[in-house]
Amino acid sequence: MSGAREQFGSRIGFILAAAGSAVGIGNLVGFPVGAAKNGGGAFLLMYAIFVFAICLPVMLAEMSVGRHARKDPLGAYRDLSGNQTHWKLAGWLSVITPFMIAVFYMVITVWIFGYLFAAVTGDLELLANPDTFATFINSPRIFAYMVVVVAVVYLILQGGVKEGIEKAAKLLMPALFVMLLGLVVFVLMQDNAMAGVEFYLIPDFSKITASVVNGALSQAFFSLSLGMGIMITYGSYIDKRADVPGSAKLVALTDTAVAFTAGLMILPAIFSFNPETNPAELSESSIGMIFTYLPQIFLALQSSIGYLGASLVASLFFLLVFFAAITSLVSIFEVPVAALMDEKDMNRKPALLILGVGMIILACLCALSFGYVEFLTTFTNYADTPKSFFDIVYDVFYDTILPLNGFLICIFVIYRWKKANFNAALDEGAPNYKGSFFERYVDISVGTFIPVILLVIFINTVALKYF
Ligand code: PHE
Repeated sequence: MSGAREQFGSRIGFILAAAGSAVGIGNLVGFPVGAAKNGGGAFLLMYAIFVFAICLPVMLAEMSVGRHARKDPLGAYRDLSGNQTHWKLAGWLSVITPFMIAVFYMVITVWIFGYLFAAVTGDLELLANPDTFATFINSPRIFAYMVVVVAVVYLILQGGVKEGIEKAAKLLMPALFVMLLGLVVFVLMQDNAMAGVEFYLIPDFSKITASVVNGALSQAFFSLSLGMGIMITYGSYIDKRADVPGSAKLVALTDTAVAFTAGLMILPAIFSFNPETNPAELSESSIGMIFTYLPQIFLALQSSIGYLGASLVASLFFLLVFFAAITSLVSIFEVPVAALMDEKDMNRKPALLILGVGMIILACLCALSFGYVEFLTTFTNYADTPKSFFDIVYDVFYDTILPLNGFLICIFVIYRWKKANFNAALDEGAPNYKGSFFERYVDISVGTFIPVILLVIFINTVALKYF
């Protein structure tokens, strides 16, 4: 687009927007349950190490590439590689991946909005019924909810970086922190809450198997919004005086703190609901947890805090998850929007409209693939399992391509853009970074074991998933 590139107005605005991207459904529900089932404190420790030792350097690579190139991921890979075709392909991958992940994330956000709506209108009995979810996702009502979610994302993004994304993050993130803390305090005051805290935190190292290690690393990688072009794009909206390493550390810290705190909400809630909870029975997926298990807990609350109280707690919970999902959705959708604006010289609104229409079509295809339309429900078959359209988008982009994108950015910064340029870019605006232990660590790790680990995860996923 002609004119000066849009920018975040303040350092805190950038940090909140990036943290808003990172804090999502995965932090609030996926992480606590995963941690509790897979070794408690032992999992937490391993997760924290992965966040800071493996994911944070990748985040630095993404942000510095974006800030230096001042372009969307496609333009950044192209310009910094001197127009090399294979690196342009990596750029394409960094734009298509978020677009496709946005499609399925959108569908889940729509469900959350639907449940928020039901909770606000006091329909807890309906939500707690185990059959409701299956009926709900196949009801035409979800298209009405989709209109609302698309409208919210559109309204935020049309405001641009400073007046849209940054303003929304400054409003939604503090609200999210307050709601989360409020719910934690409430849950910890319930009977038997401490059993949940113990279950969540007491380490059990015997649970740490190879697949748990792999799962923890993947979770950390997704949770920090890496491999999706997001940090490249957001990085392109900060100026040269901004401290990239310092900001990235705060984003990683906030994301991890929210995930940890969410565990102090979910696990005690489960245990106070049913002191006999058998850990093995905890739902495998965040989806089952949000849409079936937790609503039963909210309904049970009616007997202790009354109808209004229980509805209020349920509404707060879904509002919290909804806010987290919206700031993630905004960030991921901004990537293709930035690409159209930069590459095709388009204005923001037409870019949003074109991508919005494409996105709605694909999101409808996903939404219809849970039984409503047979063809989409049994779209294909691999590893001896029938897969729906939604499954494919999830498996291919969320589960498979992300570590590949992480591998590519590491190789790119060190071997194509070159270490010296990468370091010089990180030093700008960060006087304390130069010569620090962290700088030496990033310097070595991004060119060696981090890409190797990400490549192994990628190959392993391909081998296990599709054959
Ligand atoms: N960090 C997000 C989460 O934990 C992942 C994500 C980010 C998904 C942005 C989509 C878009 O849910």
